[in-house]
Amino acid sequence: MSSAQSTQQVKVAVIPGDGIGTEVMEPTLGILETVGEKHGLEFAWQHHDWSCEHYTRTGRMMPEDGLDQLAEADQILLGAVGFPGVPDHVSLWGLLIPIRRAFKQYINLRPVRLMPGIECPLRLRDGTDIDFLVVRENNEGEYSEVGGRMYRGTPDEFAVQESVFTRRGVERAARYALQLAADRSGSLASATKSNGIVHTMPFWDEVVHQTAQDFPGVEVRDYHIDALSALFVLDPGRFDVVVASNLFGDILTDLGAAIIGSIGIAPSANLNPEGEHPSMFEPVHGSAPDIAGQGIANPLGQIWAASMMLDHLGHPRAAGELVAAVEASLAAGIRTPDLGGSATTTEVAEAVRQHVRDQEADA
Ligand SMILES: NC(=O)c1ccc[n+]([C@@H]2O[C@H](COP(=O)([O-])OP(=O)(O)OC[C@H]3O[C@@H](n4cnc5c(N)ncnc54)[C@H](O)[C@@H]3O)[C@@H](O)[C@H]2O)c1
Repeated sequence: MSSAQSTQQVKVAVIPGDGIGTEVMEPTLGILETVGEKHGLEFAWQHHDWSCEHYTRTGRMMPEDGLDQLAEADQILLGAVGFPGVPDHVSLWGLLIPIRRAFKQYINLRPVRLMPGIECPLRLRDGTDIDFLVVRENNEGEYSEVGGRMYRGTPDEFAVQESVFTRRGVERAARYALQLAADRSGSLASATKSNGIVHTMPFWDEVVHQTAQDFPGVEVRDYHIDALSALFVLDPGRFDVVVASNLFGDILTDLGAAIIGSIGIAPSANLNPEGEHPSMFEPVHGSAPDIAGQGIANPLGQIWAASMMLDHLGHPRAAGELVAAVEASLAAGIRTPDLGGSATTTEVAEAVRQHVRDQEADA
């Protein structure tokens, strides 16, 4: 950091969560401190042990005033929640979804990029580059509380789950994606299923195309979600920005993570683009109970998510350095078992931190 630069204090709420969430969070905070020292950022961590374990002890994933506590932070870093014994809908609706909604984090931005040196599980045509962004609508859509169950335990039992698509909700997701497309290659793929889902999906298409009229330089192409999923595998190089509803975006980005080598690498930013509320940064993966406690979780998704936080804080150079350090550690072959390596979580994180230290402070 140059002497002329002043230090910016950033309050970050830290929720490691469950399973490997706790294992990938701790080293990420150390790396952020190292990057921060170079770029005039001083982090004040506000630790919260909110998790399935917290739920087992207290009957709640987070305290009653949890959202008020988080509102005091500038940003939120999340590991992952979910553990056997606590139903997944409890962990999701008790923590993640209330945070995304209360803080109007209506954009979920998920980069899908094949990092140099990573073997792609697909047989790609020569010269294919996988480097695109998925913009997932994050506040409504198929993830709704509207519905219910009746005649439980009888042969007449049924469940109804309503999807909710609002003009405002679709338009703001579309606008964000269109702006990204305008700043990049001018091409936007929109995920739909308007042939089978006859009310919400034609509405989605209509609002996306109406919004696109404000972006004459962007070409919007609609893809049915089934065909789009196949194209993620068969021709991922064709995409630059993809916009999708909450459920479609969720599924597409696990597929996106798989085609870039491992779900352990993929990051996710829950953004309140206006900055009126904290945004939340997390890896795409979950708490991975199958490998929890073994010290082999890939920390790169969490670290890449931290770099998205730096970007959102207005420090693109710091963010770029962190991603470059991730790339350098991968190129050096220091990888966890999910990427075919034998390094531990700590060894990978330490390699990234060392690359950050080695970069020229003011390059
Ligand atoms: N945002 C979140 O907090 C979030 C997201 C997804 C799932 N979950 C929860 O996590 C739990 C497990 O869910 P799941 O098994 O469907 O998904 P998962 O992402 O936890 O695991 C899927 C597979 O990927 C592997 N994997 C995931 N992250 C990895 C990493 N960083 N390094 C190496 N391997 C990794 C796991 O070992 C597992 O085999 C459930 O309780 C689920 O609800 C939480």
